[in-house]
Amino acid sequence: MQVGSKLVSSLAVINCAQLVTLAGPARPRVGLELRELSIIHDGAMLVVGGRIEKVESRAEIERLITDDCEVIDAGGRVVMPGFVDAHTHPVFAGTRVGEFEERVLGATYQQIAARGGGIQSTVRATRAATLDELVAAGKRYANWFLRTGTTTVEAKSGYGLTLEDELKILRAIKLLNSKNLLRYVPTFLGAHDIPPEYKARREQYVSLLVEEMLPRVAAEKLAEYCDVFCEEKVFTTDESWKILSAARCHGLGLRIHADQLSLSGGAKLAAELNTVTADHLEYTDNVGIAALKSAGVQPVLLPGSVYALGSSRYPAAREMIDAGLAVVLATDFNPGSSPTPAMPMILSLAATHLKMTPAEAVTAATINAAFTLNRGEQIGSLEPGKLADFVIHDCDDYRQLAYFFGVEHPWKVYAKGRVAFSRH
Ligand code: NIG
Ligand code: FE
Repeated sequence: MQVGSKLVSSLAVINCAQLVTLAGPARPRVGLELRELSIIHDGAMLVVGGRIEKVESRAEIERLITDDCEVIDAGGRVVMPGFVDAHTHPVFAGTRVGEFEERVLGATYQQIAARGGGIQSTVRATRAATLDELVAAGKRYANWFLRTGTTTVEAKSGYGLTLEDELKILRAIKLLNSKNLLRYVPTFLGAHDIPPEYKARREQYVSLLVEEMLPRVAAEKLAEYCDVFCEEKVFTTDESWKILSAARCHGLGLRIHADQLSLSGGAKLAAELNTVTADHLEYTDNVGIAALKSAGVQPVLLPGSVYALGSSRYPAAREMIDAGLAVVLATDFNPGSSPTPAMPMILSLAATHLKMTPAEAVTAATINAAFTLNRGEQIGSLEPGKLADFVIHDCDDYRQLAYFFGVEHPWKVYAKGRVAFSRH
């Protein structure tokens, strides 16, 4: 473990009021399992070479501490896995703070999009930006994720919408991953919107995605997943089917923005295609929920975007949990509908609006999220053999993460074997 500039082969974290391990079956958690956090009271953890060696009672770990072992006294705080944010759009130029003010004064997200604002305004700014400018902006957001306790993000492209601009964003994600302690899992979202130059010939943009962009992204190994914004006035279910089917042929995992602004058939399509996740689902009904269950699709719920759009149409989380779905929570960090990188804020919204208990929300934001990124064996819980991505939160009861909102809880954040954030 590298702490600051000093190389330490082993690290012991002691004096944890609650060591929230999330140890359990090696699969996404469902039903009542979402409430089982496997907490060790007065726990401790031994880390060797950046991996978790042992999670135990404090007395047990203290017996194993050797002279060369760095000891971190958590001071009676909560220690838990770093958040895994399974839906973000973290590489873009500019902001949409002007549109935000317009929405405060009554304009809707859809009205702004219809007159060429919204996603298109970020596309214009992102096309005009250089790779270095995008990496610099992304670095600012990487620090925000880390200091709010997130150690892994799924990162979508989608503000380029030309071959070269989408490649530029995916290359920026790759650079950010290599230069920062935040882990990035890249997703190709060339189907985020129809670019203006293709509005009158949208089928040609679908062909461009399928015949040129996807093969190139796959050949350069710039993405692990492909996503589509399936929605009225964006991509139809037929177009989404074509794009996602092509992505599957190139070996990419599938995700989909589904039923966000209307019941447009996205959840049904996700079930037909057996996508890994279906995201948003604000308008999904019980038929859609049943379809997701039979296909084993994980719902990714994004209450930050509902909140920031000033809507009250939150997804039916309780029905999804009751139906046995392995629910995930994420920020949807982006410059339009959800300008927050902070998972603790999402835990608060999950409690107050989705009626998820703090324990269910923690499971949805860690281990369940990790499984959607094909990393359930490496991150998302504190178990022997896993990567030591963990956070010491400045509280003595994990429920405070959802209860005190608007507070930066992390006291120390560890990622990729180093201290990624520390409050003195
Ligand atoms: O997940 N729904 C589509 N994409 C984003 C919004 C992106 C934007 O407004 O820039 C979302 O909400
Ligand atoms: Fe999104």
